[in-house]
Amino acid sequence: MERPLVVSALENQVKARPVPRHVGIIMDGNGRWAESRGLDRLEGHREGSSSVREVTRTARRVGIQALTLYAFSSQNWARPAEEVAGLMDLLRDYLERERAEILDNGIRLNAVGDVGRLPRFVREPLDRLIADSAHNTGMVLSLALSYGGREEILHAASRMAEAISRGELLAGRVEEADFESFLWTNGLPPLDLVVRTSGEQRVSNFLLWQMAYAELCFTDALWPDFRTDEFLRCVSQYQQRERRFGLTSAQVKREDTPQRAKA
Ligand code: FPP
Repeated sequence: MERPLVVSALENQVKARPVPRHVGIIMDGNGRWAESRGLDRLEGHREGSSSVREVTRTARRVGIQALTLYAFSSQNWARPAEEVAGLMDLLRDYLERERAEILDNGIRLNAVGDVGRLPRFVREPLDRLIADSAHNTGMVLSLALSYGGREEILHAASRMAEAISRGELLAGRVEEADFESFLWTNGLPPLDLVVRTSGEQRVSNFLLWQMAYAELCFTDALWPDFRTDEFLRCVSQYQQRERRFGLTSAQVKREDTPQRAKA
């Protein structure tokens, strides 16, 4: 049975201020979590699925519009075959188990990445849940699957070149928004905050284009230990930052600075 939810003071404090619209998370440290307990690495990924559930619920409760989780990178295909197979099984289990909760809570599921590479037993429940949740407007949960930021940029560049060759776009007149429309993240709000767990401080090919003006939060917690309070602490840190987008602090504080530049 679910335990009744006790909303913490931290959560109330976070809810009282503007929350980031779009948060991306590099979920790292599952392997170390398991190995430090003498367990198989897959046990770490399994426990990490519980963090996925808890952080998604919390993000939804505090009013985040978009949450993007780095679940499997383009480079992760090169891990030992057993680990890749175990991760694919976990993804399928997650999509089956969380289906009702996603649909009942107004969450729209989305995937970013070269999802055509996923095995059919993952792609089918993924496509089904994406289609069945398409009308939901509460929060977009994007799973980055077979995802790499460089791969995304290359893919977008080649699709844009095709559009130019069809005469749909003028080569010398391409604007940022034109290019963004070819990215896998097209339609998602600008990325405001990126969290990385496990004490590593690098971006590992995650949302490279989108990260240009994102705030970063690095935490030592391993992903399976990263739950509601750790997530709220990152959001709270974000709320204390001044985002300047290349302007001066005085400009940002001025009432007449366009909202978009302040956002
Ligand atoms: C990185 O930890 C994590 C991954 C490569 C996979 C992330 C997968 C999950 C959290 C579970 C399944 C996902 C969903 C959406 C249900 P690592 O293995 O690199 O850890 P390490 O650096 O400690 O070895």
